[in-house]
Amino acid sequence: MNLDFGQIVPYIPFMLEGIWVTLKFVIFAIIFGFVLGTLLALCKISHVKVIGWLADAYTSVFRGTPLILQLMIIYYAVPELVGYDISPFLSSILAFGLNSSAYVSEIIRAGIQAVDKGQTEAAQALGVPYNQMMKDIILPQAMKNILPALMNEFITLTKESALVSTIGYLDLMRRATVVGADLYRNFEPLLFVGVIYYLLVMGLTIIGRLVERRLRYSD
Ligand code: ARG
Repeated sequence: MNLDFGQIVPYIPFMLEGIWVTLKFVIFAIIFGFVLGTLLALCKISHVKVIGWLADAYTSVFRGTPLILQLMIIYYAVPELVGYDISPFLSSILAFGLNSSAYVSEIIRAGIQAVDKGQTEAAQALGVPYNQMMKDIILPQAMKNILPALMNEFITLTKESALVSTIGYLDLMRRATVVGADLYRNFEPLLFVGVIYYLLVMGLTIIGRLVERRLRYSD
């Protein structure tokens, strides 16, 4: 095998552009997933049982089917139903955001419920109102459980983002295959974007470590 990285040099700017194309929708998806996931988590810990069941059903469906299927339903199938096209960009944000919210809701729910029951009991015994108890006592402690898992979810989402290459979104992954087809050489472009994905994930890992260290510091 003879690797020749010289040949991909003219394509490097094209592939580097993919970083922003990928990050753009991943950032939107993370925000959308986080907001919806937080709302779902609140539904899950609510005392109204029906609301909790609905949120559980949502998680069950979105965790129980492949993300690529959800992406294809939104990009190919929904437009057949509603009569107008959804861009690859918007489809990707929707599919990844909806999918991620299912995972985020579980992370937040579990994080809150992992806080010792004694904390709630003590707050109630002292007559602390529910909202203040949540804000000042439960959530700050829950954050320690939630943040590392949340960082994990963001890393997963960044890597899974390569799935959008299947609906023609010109992300990092797609660009590598385009260059590969152009050059009749796949190894070099795939290796190149592989390194970029790795660096992106390393960046997120470092941010996660910093945040965690800060939380520990506040103990
Ligand atoms: N490949 C998995 C699937 O198709 C990824 C799911 C996304 N995971 C996540 N934590 N958001 O179901």
